[in-house]
Amino acid sequence: MSKKLYGTVFAKKNTKEVEDFVASIDVDYKLLGYDILGSIAHAKMLGERKIISKKDSQSLVKGLKNILKKMESGKISMTSEGVEDVHTYVNLLLNKEVSKKVADKLHTARSRNDQVVLDTRMYCLDAVQEVALKIIDLQKAILKQAEKNISVIMPVYTHLQPAQAILASHLFCAYVETLQKDKLRMMHAVSNTDEMPLGSCAARGTTLEIDRNFVAKELGFSKVSSNSIESVSSRDYILEILSAINILAINLSRIAEDLIIYSTYEFSFIEIDEAYLTGSSMMPNKRNADTLELVRGFASKALGALTQVSGLLKGLPHAYNRDMQFDKEALFESLEGIIACLKIIEGVFNSLKFNKKKLEIYLAENDFIFATDLAEYLVKKGVSYRDAHDITGKMIRFCLDKKLMIKDISDTELKKICKYFNKKVLDKLTDASSSVKAVKSEGGTSPVSVKKQIGHWRKVLK
Ligand code: ARG
Repeated sequence: MSKKLYGTVFAKKNTKEVEDFVASIDVDYKLLGYDILGSIAHAKMLGERKIISKKDSQSLVKGLKNILKKMESGKISMTSEGVEDVHTYVNLLLNKEVSKKVADKLHTARSRNDQVVLDTRMYCLDAVQEVALKIIDLQKAILKQAEKNISVIMPVYTHLQPAQAILASHLFCAYVETLQKDKLRMMHAVSNTDEMPLGSCAARGTTLEIDRNFVAKELGFSKVSSNSIESVSSRDYILEILSAINILAINLSRIAEDLIIYSTYEFSFIEIDEAYLTGSSMMPNKRNADTLELVRGFASKALGALTQVSGLLKGLPHAYNRDMQFDKEALFESLEGIIACLKIIEGVFNSLKFNKKKLEIYLAENDFIFATDLAEYLVKKGVSYRDAHDITGKMIRFCLDKKLMIKDISDTELKKICKYFNKKVLDKLTDASSSVKAVKSEGGTSPVSVKKQIGHWRKVLK
């Protein structure tokens, strides 16, 4: 039987059941590279500060670099039976590279409590960077479609009822705008992650004369954490990232939902490329947008992760508690999941097609969505908006009763409804492209405004 881990003090060994229960290697193996890099910086610092000899420091660095090389070429198993966690694993691997006497010196002025925070922070900094890059790729894919379909007109829905005519590119610019805010939120969320915790040790620091700034510099952190207790206690940086992912995932799920709805047979405004559709085990006719449904569904996992880690931390006393081991699974799943969602939805946008014919037919056959255009036309004639709303409302009621479209109302009927209406006026007001062109407000759906937005994003995303 192997010796109990860090167990000189104990008279009893742990059972296999207990060892398995406390182990986290199956999750935290993902931190292996970061643990090695952190260890290299730490070993260098111990040598610089003469806490260990230069020679031992150099041997440690060489051994650790060897492990890193082996890891990068896939020569190291990412699971190890009987190893508790990634930190212990690196120690075990190091013992195969250098003598036990030297290997044992690495864990000077260091605790797994500060080590795990270092590794996780490094992981987060890289992963969030990737999230930001993937958001940019997605924004570019959406923008390309907006440019390509600059003049496509579609209905906008409020309460999922047809509302008004818009440029489809206007809606796509809304997605780009949303994602820009998500990207900034992600970057803001990670700004507190850039703090080097090593040297906080178990909780209060160390009596050894370490150089924390040296380690921070080696690892590319912009500063060292300023309170050792806060540093090993806090998982706020994880909550901040999970919160930002949660909002991003909600936004992606809403974009996915739009695409799902607009691509249904009943709408058929857009076509999702077959590469992103899947079939049914029973119904040979099915062409399901499962990819987008999973993006939509992922938002619940992201919320679950945020809730899980929030619940985990609530009420924990300060400094390290083992409960915190459960923060990583939720964090890794969220970060990996959101990156996967971003890639998939980018592919969907890249290959998406508008069904322009269908949209033209829709707009020609459903002219109630121009009702606001009519009401605002009356305002321009001096009618109050309340009266204009009433007049147009009555007109729509008349159409509903007679089963007519607005453009079918005769001139005689029109005169009875309002003196400012006649067929010629209504033909223009119920023309989709005149309707969008007539929008004057900044940020609105007019081609001028949307082209301005596209130009802006083109510059921003360059
Ligand atoms: N596996 C632990 C975690 O993820 C690492 C830190 C363990 N520290 C300790 N004192 N047991 O939180």
